[in-house]
This record gives sequence, structure tokens and C-alpha cells, in this order.
Amino acid sequence: MKNRKILVTSALPYANGPIHIGHLVEYIQTDIWVRFQKMCGHECYYICASDAHGTPIMLKAEEEGISPETLVTKTREEHLEHFSGFSIEFDNFHTTHSDENKHIVEQIYSSLRDEGHIKKQPVQQFFDPVKTMFLPDRFIRGTCPSCGAPDQYGDSCEKCGSTYSPLDLIGPRSVLTSSPPEIKESEHLFFTLSAFTDVLLDWMEGVDLHPSVKNKLNEWFKIGLKDWDISRDEPYFGFKIPDNPGKYFYVWLDAPIGYLGSFKNFCEKKGMDFDHLIRESADLEMFHFVGKDIMYFHTLFWPALLSASGFKLPSNVFVHGFLTVNGQKMSKSRGTFITAKQYLENLDPEHLRYYFAAKIGSSIEDIDLSLEDYTFRVNADLVGKFVNIGSRCAGFLEKNFAGRLGGSVENSELLEKFQHSFGVISEGYEKREYRKVIRVVMGLADDANRYIDDKKPWKIAKDKSKSAELHEVITQGILMFRLLAIYLKPVLPELVGKVEKFLNESNLVFSNISDVPLNKKISKFGRLTDRIVQESVDNLQATLKEGNMQKEDKETEQYISIEDFKKIDFRVATITAAKEVEKSDKLIEIELDLGDRTSTVFAGIKGKYEVAELLDRKVVCVANLKPRKMRFGISEGMILAASGDQEGLFLLGPDDGAEAGMIVS
Ligand code: 2FM
Ligand code: ZN
Repeated sequence: MKNRKILVTSALPYANGPIHIGHLVEYIQTDIWVRFQKMCGHECYYICASDAHGTPIMLKAEEEGISPETLVTKTREEHLEHFSGFSIEFDNFHTTHSDENKHIVEQIYSSLRDEGHIKKQPVQQFFDPVKTMFLPDRFIRGTCPSCGAPDQYGDSCEKCGSTYSPLDLIGPRSVLTSSPPEIKESEHLFFTLSAFTDVLLDWMEGVDLHPSVKNKLNEWFKIGLKDWDISRDEPYFGFKIPDNPGKYFYVWLDAPIGYLGSFKNFCEKKGMDFDHLIRESADLEMFHFVGKDIMYFHTLFWPALLSASGFKLPSNVFVHGFLTVNGQKMSKSRGTFITAKQYLENLDPEHLRYYFAAKIGSSIEDIDLSLEDYTFRVNADLVGKFVNIGSRCAGFLEKNFAGRLGGSVENSELLEKFQHSFGVISEGYEKREYRKVIRVVMGLADDANRYIDDKKPWKIAKDKSKSAELHEVITQGILMFRLLAIYLKPVLPELVGKVEKFLNESNLVFSNISDVPLNKKISKFGRLTDRIVQESVDNLQATLKEGNMQKEDKETEQYISIEDFKKIDFRVATITAAKEVEKSDKLIEIELDLGDRTSTVFAGIKGKYEVAELLDRKVVCVANLKPRKMRFGISEGMILAASGDQEGLFLLGPDDGAEAGMIVS
């Protein structure tokens, strides 16, 4: 078999949230494929990184009072700990916020610019005047323009499922400051994707994409490829666009380039020639495992970016579906949103690897996890069938033959059947049809158990004169078990590691299938895995219900209690000073007399109120709002104003006679 060089990636996890079992479908799927390739003797590199950039990461860091770099480092470490808990073994796990990535991003960008594939165009977008930043769609909420459901995201409605432009949202509000956003124009940089239509059509024909991925691509080609906005305005956490002050590369531009950034970092550590390997002409194959939600980025933008710079195009993009739990989308309130950490604290990671493998095929259909089915499947197959073969035979070998295998097997034809199954098993792995692999392996496990049932070694053992026969039967059983272990090793690296110790083998690979280690001394059969007990599943479910429901209740609560309301310190205040914030279109810096103290607030009322008319005016303010660091200073409260969609702003004030410092309730 020709020795292949293969670069494999999984989608880069965002560095602002935990790994959950939905993510794990992809990482386990990829890890199995990589382990399979390595066991075939190929050079295979599993490359990943933290997806470090973008507004959500910048804001989360701000919320936690740390730098985005620190947040990324912290999250990356947590992710690595959980990946390793599931035996997901990357050859390199870097970050997109790296020198290597910056270098390649700039290289790709200058190729695009020099070839005339970047154009500038004005874009209208919502802008939060208080926070002084443009708002990504997810940071705007308002009433759905289709069904009227309140409090929906800026790009889609969770109630009726419709998608729309945030500009169509009714009564939009910034999620960050609750202020009504304004529409502001800014010049953005666009990548002219349509110029690559022919390149992409050629690429699509040349690679073995799954038919449903191809269909989707054809739909997109039919509609016509649209130019892609690759820039974002400051403040932003990302890489600056050279020669474009105040502009940053959109996170989705540098994220896939992060595959190469991480690979470059790997090559440098290993003394490999990165620049040569990623050239179009080199014999490196490159495969990306991704979810169906990010197919557009990986099958259109990504190959186009690569081709613009003479890089190797993906050899394939393997797209998978989502994970549902008990047939439904994972949900915190239903207690089915399971993080990697919660799973690891209660259940065996290899059991999830096995269960996912038993379900994963090459299609983009969703896969379902039902904890009941998972318990049944793992106990019946893994423990009841596979491990059972070893444990049924090992005792006899130890007791009667000092742990040494016999000089012959009882049924070499049956053993050959096991050996010859490698063809269909390896085809299943290669095509990511793991469920087929598991079906075949469990079919063989049934054969092995049936063999032991028929031969009844426990009966033969009673007759001392049949010792040779017993030895042959037991040797047969253990060698069949050994082959099944080799076949399952990509799925169950830990468990098979224990089998290797039992068999005194250091690292079983597929070329070991043809070995028949007769007369070999083997070790004591230890515990390989435990049955799943209902109590562990119940414990996990109890954890999910407690933690997650409380969280979700908090997030989705429609009403606040009177206790919540009482926490807000509404006060009458007098404006004692006001000045316009020079660099802002909206903000006025106001000093308030609160009776017992003064405080500074930044209010988004410029344009509607003149500084002079504000002086000595009585307003209502929230006096105990946590001070917020803004671009122009620290805001220590909030003054209240009414606003409509078109009609502008109206400051709220008390009737005549009220004094600064009076409590409003
Ligand atoms: O969708 C996501 O979770 C992204 N962080 C995936 C990025 S994959 C690649 F393009 F980097
Ligand atoms: Zn709706």
C-alpha cells in the first residue's frame, strides 16, 4: 500500500465556551479516522487550534476583566484537558491568534489584493452609541418582523424560524447596553468570491464530495456566488488589515487559515518543510471534518482563498450532521445539554466513543443520543460481546497453561475469516462508515462467542485427557479476541491499550493482523471496562437538571420579581455639568448630583439635546448600576429616557418640586 501524507483537521473550537457532546461527535469522528490512518502506516497529522478572534471573545474577556489573550489561553487549556479526557489526540493544537497565522493571513490577503479580488463597499450596520461599536447580528434583539415574537435575535427568530436582516427587526435593542442602536455606514472590504466560480466548479468535480454536499453546492452555484465581507471595524479582537486603519479581518477569514497556521507551527517544531508541503504540487492530502452549518465556509470561501495563493486545495470536506439528544436539539432546560466535563465526571469516555462510532456514517444526517439506548448498546456489545470473549478464555489459559498460548489453533478457517474481514472493515473506516465497521466487528464477536458456546471449554477442561484440545480452543478464542481488539483500536484506544498489555504487545497496528502469535506468553487478564450502571446515568442527569435548568431559567425568565425590582436604586438627580464627547456622534458626558454624591454617566442623547438645555435639569437615574468602562471613560450610572422607533428620545424627569437624591419607587 502506498504510504500517504495526510493533513486532517476538525473545526476550530471558539475560545469562549466549553466543549460539549455536540462538539465531540466531530472530534471523535476525526480522531477515529486519524487513528485508523496511522494504524495503516500512513503519515497522518491531526491539526487543530483555538478559534481565538471575534466580538464575542472580546466581550467575554471584557466581562471577566481579563485580556482576550488570557481568555484564549485559559479556554485553550480547558479544551485540551477535556479533549484528552476523551483520548482525542491532536498532533498539534495551536491558536489562530498566532504569528504563524498572522503571516499566512497577510500572505493570502496580499495575493487577493494584488490580483484585484478585494473591493471596497459601504455597509450599513447597527451601531451601539453607548458602547460605541458596531453590533454583530447576535448582539441585537427585538421583535420578529414575521411573527411578532418579542426578544428575538437580530438575524433569525427562534419562534417562527424566519431569517431576516437586523435592520428589519422591530424595536431593536443592543444586547450590550439595551440602548436602541442607530444605523451607521462604514466602508468594508469584500472578497470577490464570484471570480472563483470556475475554480470552485473544477475543484468540486475533482473531489469525492458526498452527494448531499455536492447538491448543496450546486444550489449555491445556481443562485450565484456573492462577494464576502471580510472586514470588521474596531473595536475588534483580531488581526489588523494592512493599509486599512481601524479595520480588522473578520474572524471567519482567519479561522480556516488557522488550520495552516497550526500546521506551520507543527512543521517548524518537527523540522518539516511547510512551504513545500502546502503548495499545490506537493503530495500532501488535506481533509477537513466540519458540521453542516459551516459547509459554505469550507466548500466555497476556503478553497477559493487557497487557490488565490497557489496553496493546496482540500482533498475533501467531510460534512456531518448535528447531535440530537432523545430526538431533540440539545437544550439546557430539558437537561440534555451535556458538557464534556459533566460527562467525564460521571461516565466512561470510551463508552461515548463506542456509541458514537456505532451511529456515525458518512452522511450529513443528524445522529441521536438516547442515554437509554447508549446504556443498552454499550453493555450488550462492548461488555456482553467483545470483552466477554477475552474473559471467557483468559482464565483457562492462566490456570491450565501458565498463560502461554498453544502451538496451533482449533479452527484456522474461522481465524482466517477474522483476518480477511480487514478489507471490509478498513473500507468502512476510510469511508467514515463507522457504524458499518461496528456492525461487522460485532458480527465477528457473535461468531467468536458462538464458537465458545459450541466448544464449551468449561466442559473440556473437566477432562484432563483433553488438555491439547482445550489449549487449541482457548488459543483460538484469544486470537479471535486479539483481531477484534485491533479492529476496534481506532475507536477504543484506552481499552485496547489494556488488551495490548494482556497480550504482551506494545503497539498493535493493521500489519499485525497477519501475525499468529502461537506459543506466546501472555499476561493476566485485567479489568477492561465496566458495565454502565443506571446510577451513573442518573447522577449525570441530576447534575444537568440542577445546574442547567437554573441557568436557563435565569436566561429566559420573562418576569422579574419584586425583589429584583427592589435591587434597582432609581433616584432623582440634577444634571450639574454636561459636555459633548468629541469623537462620538451620540454621547454626552453628564455629571449628576445624586444628593449624597456625584457621578458621571455617558448618555447617548447628542443630537437630540443641546448641552446648555441639560444643565440644572432633573432626571431619573439608575444610581447603583455597576460602573462600566467605555471607550471615553467610566460610566457610573444611567439616566432614563423614553424612545420610539422614529420619534427620537425623551428624557424622563420628575414633576416640579422633586429634589436630587429622592428615591423613585
Ligand atoms: O463554528 C465554529 O465553531 C467555528 N469556531 C469553526 C471554525 S472552523 C475553521 F474554519 F476554523
Ligand atoms: Zn418570528
